[in-house]
Amino acid sequence: MIQIKNKASTFYFCCGMAVKLLLTLMTLVVGSTAFCQFQPIDAFEQNRRLGRGVNIIGYDPIWRSREQSRFKEKHFKLLKEAGFQSVRINLHPFRYMDSANAYALSQNWLETLDWAVSNSLASGLQVILDLHEYNSMGQNVEGNKERFISFWKQISNKYKDAPNSVVFEILNEPNKELTPSLWNKYFKEALDIIRTTNPQRTVIIGPAFWNSVDHLKELELPENDRHLIVTVHYYKPMAFTHQGAAWAGYKDKLGVNWGSEADMKAVRDDFIKVSEWAKAHNRPIFLGEFGAYDKAPMESRIQYIGFVARTAESFGWSWAYWQFDSDFILWDMKADKWVEPILKALIPAR
Ligand code: BGC
Repeated sequence: MIQIKNKASTFYFCCGMAVKLLLTLMTLVVGSTAFCQFQPIDAFEQNRRLGRGVNIIGYDPIWRSREQSRFKEKHFKLLKEAGFQSVRINLHPFRYMDSANAYALSQNWLETLDWAVSNSLASGLQVILDLHEYNSMGQNVEGNKERFISFWKQISNKYKDAPNSVVFEILNEPNKELTPSLWNKYFKEALDIIRTTNPQRTVIIGPAFWNSVDHLKELELPENDRHLIVTVHYYKPMAFTHQGAAWAGYKDKLGVNWGSEADMKAVRDDFIKVSEWAKAHNRPIFLGEFGAYDKAPMESRIQYIGFVARTAESFGWSWAYWQFDSDFILWDMKADKWVEPILKALIPAR
C-alpha cells in the first residue's frame, strides 16, 4: 500500500503515474501499429523474403520459464547481422493447453510467443510459426485433434492483424497415424479455420511422411488457394546426416563421410523432382529443415550443408537450417559464439 504523506510526494507520485501511463500507451501504440499492417503478398515473393533462415527455440527451456531461456534477445539481432532473413519458431504447445477450458493456451506460453514474434520482427526477420507437435499427432491423431484445431483457432485469431512477415506452418512432419490421405483432410480443416480470420496470410504445408520429398505427389492442396508455400525436409542420406543419433537408430554408426560425385548427384536428382512438381503445380518451395548431426565428421557436414543450401537456392527455394541451438548446433551457447564453419557453409562471405 502506498502512503502519500505530503504535497510534494503527492506531486511526484502523480508525475510518476503520468509517465507510467504514457509509457504504457506508447507500448500499446507501437505494439499495435506493428500488428496493423497486413498487406497481401504473392506467395513467391513471400518465399523470396523467407530466403535464408534458421529453426529456433523448439527445445529451449524458455517455454517452461523465461528465466531459464538459453535464447536471448541479442540472438535475433545476431541472426539478422549474420545474413539470415527468417526464423522458423518450433512450437510444442500441447502441454500448455487447458483441457478443462477448450484447450486454451496458457498466458505464460502466449507471452513467450509474443516475445519471440515481436523480437524477430523488430530485428527485421520474417517469422514462421511452426506447430511442431508431430510426435503427438503421429502417435495419436484422433486423441489430439481437438488440441490441433484449438491451437490454430487461437493462434490465427491472435495474429490475424500481424504483418505478412508472420507466416503459419500447419504441422511439422506429419507421420505414422497421420497417413497421406488423413493428412489431406486434417490440414484442410486447420486451413479452413485459419482462412476465416486470415484469408490471405501465407500458410506453409508439406507432404505427409515427415515432409519427405518422395511424398509430394500425395499432397492435395486446394487449387484456388494461392497463398500457400509448400515445404519439404531433407536429411538424405540418413546414415550420414543422423550418424550417432540414438532417436533415429544410428547411435553407434559413426564415421560416415559425404561429398562424392554420386552423393551430390543424389541430392540434385531429388531436388529436380521437387522442382518439377513445384513447376507443374505452380507452388513456391521452402526447404524447412536440413542439416547433419553434430557427431558427423565436420568436413563432410560443411560440404553437405553448403551444397544443399546452394542447390536449394539455385531452384529459387527458401530454406531454414536445422537448428540454432540444442543439436545440429549453429550457435555454441557455452562459448557464446557461432559455430563458424557451419555459419560460413550456410552464408558464404558476402
Ligand atoms: C525434430 C528434431 C530432430 C530433427 C532431426 C526435427 O523435426 O523436431 O527433434 O532432431 O528433426 O531429426
